[in-house]
Amino acid sequence: MAILDDLERYYDGAPRAGGARTEDFGPLTLFVQTGGGWQYYARPVLAGGAPVTEADVRRVRERQRELQVPEAFEWVAETTPSMAAAAEAAGLHVHAHPLMGLDPDAAPPVPHPEVTLLGADHPLLCAAVTVPVLAFAAPGTALGEAGPAELASAMADAGAADRTAHVASRLADGRSGMAAAVRDGVVLASGMHNPVGPVAEVVAVATLPAARRQGLALGVTTALVADARARGAGTVFLSAGDEDVARVYARAGFRRVGTAMIAEPAAE
Ligand SMILES: CC(C)(COP(=O)(O)OP(=O)(O)OC[C@H]1O[C@@H](n2cnc3c(N)ncnc32)[C@H](O)[C@@H]1OP(=O)(O)O)[C@@H](O)C(=O)NCCC(=O)NCCS
Repeated sequence: MAILDDLERYYDGAPRAGGARTEDFGPLTLFVQTGGGWQYYARPVLAGGAPVTEADVRRVRERQRELQVPEAFEWVAETTPSMAAAAEAAGLHVHAHPLMGLDPDAAPPVPHPEVTLLGADHPLLCAAVTVPVLAFAAPGTALGEAGPAELASAMADAGAADRTAHVASRLADGRSGMAAAVRDGVVLASGMHNPVGPVAEVVAVATLPAARRQGLALGVTTALVADARARGAGTVFLSAGDEDVARVYARAGFRRVGTAMIAEPAAE
């Protein structure tokens, strides 16, 4: 499928654009962050190489431990079918997630009146960057407890200023776009997209647990898609946490195109 080729180029290009250097391990490439940005993964080499073996994965894990970077691997199941068994044999826990591409023929949903795009200097940027911290601590799509009060205290945590500064620098130079749902001056949901050339990935869509099931994530996703397209993205994609989350994205015009795989050490 042509979109899967676009995604391979994206997954290889995004870490390079994000400041990572590479180390080669046969059929795998390890991306190592050199600046203060996000940590990256190891993944199959771009042009497709020999099948990945358990020994390849073990060599990369050893190097990741030596560099004190996460022992994280990402790939697309349909593109690199050898990788899942190799990662499992090397002792990693393997997760599969719906990989979805925007259907170019889908009618764009109506913009949500409470959703706005945020620039680098927006006063609500710290709140928007902090919403995912609370949202991903309560995975799934169910309503939960954490709301504006918990958001305010999480914004005071160590780490919030660094996270905000990093996202602000990406927004300032166009490496990311951000949207947020704001009600009475409080950010209830947010998300980002990261364009690299003609492809943009939608990431970190998150709604405060107490504000779920009101259509805010759909509104945020719709705004991110519109922004990515306005900046020239011909392909917009994302990976959904699970099938429940995938339903939200399907309403925004995304269709299943494959399976995004992640391997990491099992949680202690
Ligand atoms: C996934 C997530 C972002 C969805 O946020 P949300 O704002 O609740 O999403 P929406 O309101 O657009 O849709 C969720 C559900 O509410 C329903 N809904 C939307 N508006 C509604 C309304 N006015 N009344 C009742 N239900 C409504 C939707 O139909 C959907 O129902 P479904 O589960 O049956 O498909 C949120 O649950 C979350 O932050 N989860 C944890 C982090 C995460 O997994 N993020 C995604 C990363 S891939």
